[in-house]
Amino acid sequence: MTHLLPSLVQEELSAAEAVRQHFCSLGRSGIHAPGYFVQTFGCQQNEADSERLAGLAAAMGYRKVDTPDEADLILVNTCAIREHAEKKALSIIGQYKHIRDKNPGLIIGVGGCMVTQTHRSDKLKNSYPYVSFTFDTGAIHKLPSLVRDALTISRRQFIHSEEYSIAEGLPLAREQKHMAWLSVMYGCNNFCSYCIVPYVRGRERSRRMDDIVEEAKMLIADGAKDITLLGQNVNSYGKDLTEGYDFADVLHRVCALPGDFRVRFMTSHPKDASDRLIEAIATEEKIVRHLHLPVQSGSDAVLKRMNRRYTAEYYCSLIDKMRAAVPDISLTSDIIVGFPGETEEDFNATLEMLKYVRYDMIFSFIYSPRIGTPAAEMPDQIPHEISTERFERLLALQNAISDERNKRFIGRKLRVLVEGTSKTDENVLTGRGDMVRPVHFVGSKDRIGGFTEVEITASSTFSMEAKEIR
Ligand code: 5AD
Ligand code: SF4
Repeated sequence: MTHLLPSLVQEELSAAEAVRQHFCSLGRSGIHAPGYFVQTFGCQQNEADSERLAGLAAAMGYRKVDTPDEADLILVNTCAIREHAEKKALSIIGQYKHIRDKNPGLIIGVGGCMVTQTHRSDKLKNSYPYVSFTFDTGAIHKLPSLVRDALTISRRQFIHSEEYSIAEGLPLAREQKHMAWLSVMYGCNNFCSYCIVPYVRGRERSRRMDDIVEEAKMLIADGAKDITLLGQNVNSYGKDLTEGYDFADVLHRVCALPGDFRVRFMTSHPKDASDRLIEAIATEEKIVRHLHLPVQSGSDAVLKRMNRRYTAEYYCSLIDKMRAAVPDISLTSDIIVGFPGETEEDFNATLEMLKYVRYDMIFSFIYSPRIGTPAAEMPDQIPHEISTERFERLLALQNAISDERNKRFIGRKLRVLVEGTSKTDENVLTGRGDMVRPVHFVGSKDRIGGFTEVEITASSTFSMEAKEIR
């Protein structure tokens, strides 16, 4: 069953209410309410999941606190995409022991992709006795009963779902008023040979169109001005539904909603990027002129071993089609360096791909073997020194391209959404235009959360400078 029974969600919401009343009976409400702190690692999907965890924590009567030291409930939402992400999460969880020593009532729960792997949840169970529970990516909705059991019967639980479904109707506590995540589907069917995601997020399942549209309406009413539609591969949205919708239909329905807002989406697998998707980007004014289309490698031999199911030539033809439809589009990509068996020639093909496409920006990663994936068992794993050296060359080339690409905006007027102030100067605002780079300009803080017009005056590798012109 794709959707979780509403009665099961209801049971959890009742558990949340029971926890809230438990705290109320102890006089712990209002300013005396217990604190929650959510620590998130990884991708936007995890950010979105964390907003549900926060929503459930609020429903249980917890109030958000700014540091883990103030918390009575710490939730760590982990990532498993590379070893580094797992190490970081384990190290943070290790540090929380000191907080727990000072506050024996503290509940620490660990969720997300890392603990969906049995060897990781076993490790937390056996070597981190102060971790109260773990819950996999299919068990987010179970947070209230996990907390209730930890509080009332001191029960440690380590949940592994039998199957993954969609839980509608969970409360949401959003991080940023003007930016919003909206998951349209969960899971992945692609089994790229390096990737752990299909093993930790289950098979693709699409939300019902009406549920997505209703949530978009709610977000817009709540002040969202920039909505990112999320899925591991949004281009296969709807394949598991009987209605015959595809992702382009989702885009058209969301864009048709009244209001001044923008729409982004990620991620798109090149093999599933359709003409209808390209047409939607070209015709819908609310869609940001940006496509994140991960190529991973420019070498056909590597792409084949990665199980990506397209060739470099096909990918380039897609880019040509995209640019013909939306000439000024900003393109971004993910690249893996040092995949098993990658030769110097293969790597050069990736550099050639960068020169051909001229991405505005790339996210590049050194290949990290993941237990249980086919690539981890492949011969010719690449020594770290070689991967690092290739990685540096890749970055140097991309930085030069980004520099060059960003110059095209100088002198242009852009409508930007003001996101906040610059980290280094309170008087400088940071905004985002259609493209992927932040835009910095001097302006008043009351602009934050709204749109304004700027003219770009200078650009660098990672950002733009502008002056406000409204
Ligand atoms: N090693 C390195 N990078 C990886 N990615 C996914 N799995 C791995 C891995 N095992 C990268 C891919 C993907 C991005 C989200 O993370 O480039 O698109
Ligand atoms: Fe991983 Fe490939 Fe699925 Fe992306 S499409 S989540 S890289 S398996």
